[in-house]
Amino acid sequence: MQSILQCMDCGRQYPIDKVLYTCEACGGLLDVQHDLDTLKQVVSRALFDERLSSLDTPYNSGVWRYKELIHPAIDNEQVVSRPEGNTNLYPAPRLAEWAGVTRLYLKHEGENPSGSFKDRGMTSGVTQARALGMKRVACASTGNTSSSLAAYAALADMEGIIFFQNRGVALGKLAQGIAYGATAMQINADFDRNLELVREIAERLNIYVLNSVNPFRLEGQKSIMFEMLQQLRWQVPDWVVVPGGNLGNSSAFGKALKELFELGMIDRLPRLAIIQAEGANPLYRAYKRGFDHLEPLKAHTVATAIKIGNPVNYPKAVRALGWTDGVVESVTDQEIMDAKAMIDRQGIGCEPASACSLAGARKLVDAGIIRKGETVVGILTGHILKDPDATIGYHSNQLENITPSYPNKLHQAEPSIEEITRILQGEAIPTH
Ligand code: F0G
Repeated sequence: MQSILQCMDCGRQYPIDKVLYTCEACGGLLDVQHDLDTLKQVVSRALFDERLSSLDTPYNSGVWRYKELIHPAIDNEQVVSRPEGNTNLYPAPRLAEWAGVTRLYLKHEGENPSGSFKDRGMTSGVTQARALGMKRVACASTGNTSSSLAAYAALADMEGIIFFQNRGVALGKLAQGIAYGATAMQINADFDRNLELVREIAERLNIYVLNSVNPFRLEGQKSIMFEMLQQLRWQVPDWVVVPGGNLGNSSAFGKALKELFELGMIDRLPRLAIIQAEGANPLYRAYKRGFDHLEPLKAHTVATAIKIGNPVNYPKAVRALGWTDGVVESVTDQEIMDAKAMIDRQGIGCEPASACSLAGARKLVDAGIIRKGETVVGILTGHILKDPDATIGYHSNQLENITPSYPNKLHQAEPSIEEITRILQGEAIPTH
């Protein structure tokens, strides 16, 4: 069951043990292509269900449970796993009502070991790095990829090298990268430039790049779709709504769904809705122009995780939208933070970028694209504790150009029974 690397544009093939991210002939992005005809005889719903009870590495992972569809030929001993995945799929009836649909689920990828969906791609990426004999792995990041890379590099006893901008990275993420022992580089450049730098330096110094331009990252991230469908007992939802930054996740989702369909494991594909922040929406702009071309932009958004102006996986995301009859929507920072407040208020919580899923779903219902009776799954990509500054800033009305629609006031009181009683009884509070 040997898989190959294949260029998505010209179809040229390469062995999977070659360190390569784009096609040598045409520069196109590469896919890890599995032998689906052979896999058809091997994989089944029953196989994946049986592994749900496994206590052992790697099948106790919500990524490696689907090993045959991720990296079939890898030796189990090589797998670097926390384990990751096995995240909750929450039914969210109150948020469904808020968004205007009958049935809404939220799949919380912030429940991964390092607090974001990136762990699913990092387990497959670092496993491949180990199989290739690489000793150093690197990425550019808005914060979550670097947290995840740092954690998995530590686990695999490799040197992790992380590049991020010298401002605008959420504190929780910055702290993780440093704490997990990565070589951390703060650079006076945005994410897009940092990614260029990493790719050049990696080539020069023989370092393995673990951004989502690496096709093995996307193989792991496919498991979000596999696990979601297994949790829904393989009943296909009408929509999957996901935030879009560098467009790795949406690209992986398209590939996952297409493969499941080709394997006969699902009978139709859900429609993909990719949601971008208004100040970082080059995919949305291209969508509106019929995908003529991608025009990179200087990105700005409160959702710092997706502050990306030149998404590397653009061609794969366009392909995924084609496969799934997908759509793209754009939401303002105000809409993102209000949707986040709603998700947080359910006791579920997420970081700002994740709230694009709910904000976007609501907007698409308003526009009549998602219909009321349809079943929607929103992907929450990161944990609420990743970016506490944004949360506190919202509730204390300190975020620039955002007026909180759902603020929760932080009360201040002297240690006085009378004063505290007055507050809890909702009476007027004297100001201090
Ligand atoms: N949500 C969160 C919380 C993210 O951290 C990211 C990406 C995305 C959504 C967008 O996903 O890039 O696959 O479209 N964060 C990357 C990082 C860029 O460096 O952590 P995408």
